[in-house]
Amino acid sequence: MELIEVPAGLANVAVTATTVGDVVGEEGFYHYRGRSATELARSSSFEDVARLVLDDTDTDAIGDAALPPSVAAAVAAGCDLRGGLSALGTAIGTVPVIDQAPAERRRDAVRLISAFPTLIASVHHGALRSPREDLGHIANYLWMLTGNDDPAVARALETYCILTIDHGFNSGTFTARVVASTGADLGACVLAAYCALTGPRHGAVQSRVLDMLEEIGEPDRAADWMRAALAARRRVLGFGHAVYRVMDPRAPVLAEVTASLAPERHRLLAGVEEAAGSVLAGRRIAPNVDLYSPVVLEACGIPRELFTATFAVARVVGWCAHVLEQAKEGKVIRPAAYYVGPPPDGR
Ligand code: ACO
Repeated sequence: MELIEVPAGLANVAVTATTVGDVVGEEGFYHYRGRSATELARSSSFEDVARLVLDDTDTDAIGDAALPPSVAAAVAAGCDLRGGLSALGTAIGTVPVIDQAPAERRRDAVRLISAFPTLIASVHHGALRSPREDLGHIANYLWMLTGNDDPAVARALETYCILTIDHGFNSGTFTARVVASTGADLGACVLAAYCALTGPRHGAVQSRVLDMLEEIGEPDRAADWMRAALAARRRVLGFGHAVYRVMDPRAPVLAEVTASLAPERHRLLAGVEEAAGSVLAGRRIAPNVDLYSPVVLEACGIPRELFTATFAVARVVGWCAHVLEQAKEGKVIRPAAYYVGPPPDGR
């Protein structure tokens, strides 16, 4: 059978249809089911946006955040986050998504989304954490993790999380859909997507951006630092994007947050952005979300080693929305590869 050649990384190859959302790279815009994600981040609660993204019904997407007893036992035994996530998926159920009714899949998705922050906080502390009745989903995560219940800090983290719920057909989302297309259970889909997110080319660049800011140190050193980085063929972290050719629309929203929450860091970021304006001029490389997001997370008191996990607290909603959508499709995602090794024996 003749193979169809596609660009490296499947760039601009549409592999399915979705109603969850879209990224319009040339315009610097993205949306959740037609609603501007940046406007939602400024005006809505995480709970409302999660419901919109999951399936836009009247039923909540966030519910019971307590950990099932078997997961609490895994935490007490000292599991890491991947082990805990695997245990959480198993505790929720290992029924293949293709064998479930839509309502059963949704119920499992809500359980997983709701308990995930509790899992992260509990694994981090090596002891069970329990959510408070009076706090929202993201405020509870902040409180369980750091003990901070300052509403302004919680709102800053909530803004970041709303901006991060979904973002087109990125690698983690695609991974979730590939696993869902095999019919595997929801926990397997989410664990696989989380593993994809942990790569530095995807979700795990954030703490490296803080290293870069610390190396730069002062705004007036940014231009020289960048010239040296480019001369050494290094990437300037926090700039460039696979889809956006203009400013990533998440960056200015988070810049507003850093201006009020971390003014000193914000001054440095402003200097870095200004220097990039001249050093990277003409290359169509603009600031991306991860120039500002690590400073927001740091100012909220999130430990660096949990930046990617915190990203996943939000993105798990998008993954689940895509799993619910993919589960309705009948075809397994199964592409091909050109064989370029030695000729096979006997041919
Ligand atoms: N610094 C310097 N040069 C860059 C940068 C950058 N940050 N980004 C892209 N370029 C250059 C590349 O070297 C390449 O130049 P060349 O054609 O002369 O080789 C050109 O721009 C195109 O680069 P690609 O890698 O093809 O761009 P792509 O769109 O695939 O890459 C990526 C996107 C991986 C995000 C890239 O911009 C990058 O590495 N940025 C720095 C890391 C970063 O900030 N990652 C977070 C992205 S946001 C997110 O994923 C949530």
